[in-house]
Amino acid sequence: MTPTTDLLPALAQKVGTPFWIYDAELLRKRIADIQYITSTPGVHARFAMKSCPATKVLKEMHAAGIGIDAVSGNEVLRALAAGYPGGQEPAQVCLTCDVFRDNALDVVLKHNVLPNIGSPGQIQDLAKAGYKGGISIRLNPGFGHGHVNACDTGGPSSKHGIWFEDFTKIAEQAKAAGFPIYMLHAHIGSGPQFDELVENLTRLAEEYAELVPQLPDLRAVSLGGGIPHNYRDPSAKVPLDRLKDLFANCHALLCKAAGREIRLEIEPGRYYVAPTCDLVARVTDIKETQNNEKGSGVKFAMVDAGFVDLVRPAMYGSFHRITVIPQDGADRPLEPIVVAGPLCESGDVFTRDDQELLQPRQLPSPQAGDLLVLHDAGAYGYAMSSNYNSIGKAPQLWLEKDGTVEMISRRETLEDLLKAECSEAV
Ligand code: LLP
Repeated sequence: MTPTTDLLPALAQKVGTPFWIYDAELLRKRIADIQYITSTPGVHARFAMKSCPATKVLKEMHAAGIGIDAVSGNEVLRALAAGYPGGQEPAQVCLTCDVFRDNALDVVLKHNVLPNIGSPGQIQDLAKAGYKGGISIRLNPGFGHGHVNACDTGGPSSKHGIWFEDFTKIAEQAKAAGFPIYMLHAHIGSGPQFDELVENLTRLAEEYAELVPQLPDLRAVSLGGGIPHNYRDPSAKVPLDRLKDLFANCHALLCKAAGREIRLEIEPGRYYVAPTCDLVARVTDIKETQNNEKGSGVKFAMVDAGFVDLVRPAMYGSFHRITVIPQDGADRPLEPIVVAGPLCESGDVFTRDDQELLQPRQLPSPQAGDLLVLHDAGAYGYAMSSNYNSIGKAPQLWLEKDGTVEMISRRETLEDLLKAECSEAV
């Protein structure tokens, strides 16, 4: 979103810093983009809610007729609480988890959401629990793409899914357990290269086309998520026409291979939400180190947000655009700055652009009291925030088209953090 220089200081005054702010209209634009690329009859979209599970966002998705890909029992329950139905014909909520932990199996049984299984043991888990229903099988097609290795979810270095070569075995296991295979699924990762994505998804559809004729119960095939967002250039556009054509062609290919209708699904996360939320922090101080190992000092802008809020730079070296909003409204000259947070690790810096820790960025000379905006933090932002250093999560604000602002989650307090502590005999 674009920071409005009058709105953000006023909000900072009211709710304190740091805080997250969503742009509802921009989210609706992103939803409309996805609706466009899935407008071919037989092509459908889900939302990978792990990227941003706020109820307010889920309700927008539900109202737009977009399904859900959940990753835990609690995510399924959050989707149901936001208005999604359980059930499997077709499944509006699909549970893609590598392991059934906590309440996941109970939730599948109780709400009959479609389990998307990625290992043979999960079929046994379902059978033992007395599950009756269809399943989806997550495949590892042998290739993937990611902005870092950790986000490349296909190929030999990925733990995800069943290899195509092992598909016959798992299909037999599913048959013996009495579970019809309703869906085939793969998510190959979250990479920045659009052409690579198109190439990979085309290849994936071709691999699926070999399997679908053997699967009489099959209703759907999912190509997963991974539509990129350009974190560097807000004016860069994903070629939506190419995606629309790609999905139409994949759908046609699969229907032809099966000799009947097969629904084609996609489940992006990042594309819907990445640009729709910013993290706003306050500059608390400016300080300089003496010489570092490269012989020059570094100027730090200390801010009150840290990787407990937005972990992507510290975790992956991810780039997020930064805007400084000077308290006095004055123009400031650019200078190289490292933006750093309050946490107890030197990795708590936001100006990263790869694995290097200290990468000063040219910013309009920040001063204590200024606001600093970290852009494009809507995907895997609040969703990955933590309570490290006993810090409560920052509040989330929701900006509507008419300018009204609603707080959709408040700042966590110490009481919130201590809620699960107990002293119970076991
Ligand atoms: N489907 C499945 C099964 C997934 O695991 C994911 C993301 C998606 C869809 C959505 O992928 P997207 O469209 O958002 O690329 N924390 C990392 C990203 C991890 C992605 C995990 N899975 C980050 O901040 O970049």
